Amino acid sequence: MKKRIVILCGGKSGEHPISCVSAASVARTLKDSYQITPVGITRSGEWVSLSLDEVCSWNLKDLPEIEAEGRQKVEAVPGSGLFLAGSKVEADLVFPVLHGLGGEDGAVQGFLETCGLPYVGCGIFASAACMDKHYTKLILKASGIKVAPGITVDARGGVDGPAALEKIREEKIGWPVFVKPAWGGSSVGVAKVESPEGLEGALEAAAKVSWRILIEEGIKGREIECAVLQRRGGKPVAALPGEIIPSASASFYDFEAKYVDTSLCKVKVPADLDVQTSDAIRREAVKAFEAVDGRQLMRVDFFLKDDGGILVNEINTMPGFTEISMYPLAWQSLGMSYRQILVDLVENAA
Ligand SMILES: Nc1ncnc2c1ncn2[C@@H]1O[C@H](COP(=O)(O)OP(=O)(O)O)[C@@H](O)[C@H]1O
Ligand SMILES: [Mg+2]
Repeated sequence: MKKRIVILCGGKSGEHPISCVSAASVARTLKDSYQITPVGITRSGEWVSLSLDEVCSWNLKDLPEIEAEGRQKVEAVPGSGLFLAGSKVEADLVFPVLHGLGGEDGAVQGFLETCGLPYVGCGIFASAACMDKHYTKLILKASGIKVAPGITVDARGGVDGPAALEKIREEKIGWPVFVKPAWGGSSVGVAKVESPEGLEGALEAAAKVSWRILIEEGIKGREIECAVLQRRGGKPVAALPGEIIPSASASFYDFEAKYVDTSLCKVKVPADLDVQTSDAIRREAVKAFEAVDGRQLMRVDFFLKDDGGILVNEINTMPGFTEISMYPLAWQSLGMSYRQILVDLVENAA
């Protein structure tokens, strides 16, 4: 009998449409070999039933949005699983193709465990650890992995620009700085700040996304991303690194460059690197995977500094999964097809 998979997509985060497009690619690729039940999560967090045909038709141009209206609600029973109109959704596993808060932050992972459902990808700890950039950096630093110099501020009592400036001076953080929400994504709320005058405004903008805010030294160098895959019981393996190459007019890899005007940045896999650098990045990616207790997959994002230094910028536990996303492209450059990666993930879900 075909394995039965629930594909979860959408979600409450700003990456809702990207999740839908990734889920469409996954569903189109797996539908002949597995029995697929797509379940959508609306922006407000309701779980609803979707038709497989509809999901398979989605693409990036449409930026799909899942609305609750006219759809049947999906319910969950702790210890039992998912239910639709009173009947159990028979499922062998769940593939949470979800990005950002509420999706790849451990919440859904914990929820699925409570429901007794195995799932693809990282568990609760790694998901939570990689969602909060402050804690990701703490874990990486403790494991001997280099990260960008920076400080973290708490904006729960309001933004305090002068205090942040004082701390930047004390810690000798160089300008420009990057201000970023601890649990953001898609570069929302991220700003490059050239001088002290711009700091307060950037902190206010970041505080709209998360109350914990990182202020990092701006790193000059290349942005390299490395896909890691772990088969059940096996050691994690890193693919050849890829690169995000900004055009001359791109300020940094911001929301505009990621999703609005994709000509602002080019994705190149494999990146043009000498073997030593490529190997060093792959080793660091595996080390980072192990440091945060990863499972099955993650994409580790690096800065390769002009002086050759390698820093980890952030980790994505459920990277973009469209056919043109870095993660699957990186494996394709090593001869593993998009379908093969998905089958590997599904067959080894825990
Ligand atoms: N310390 C830094 N130095 C230089 N560029 C940075 C730094 N931090 C972030 N950036 C730029 O901002 C982008 C988004 O930041 P990132 O930390 O990756 O957040 P997100 O989770 O939103 O992708 C990065 O891809 C990079 O272009
Ligand atoms: Mg990023």
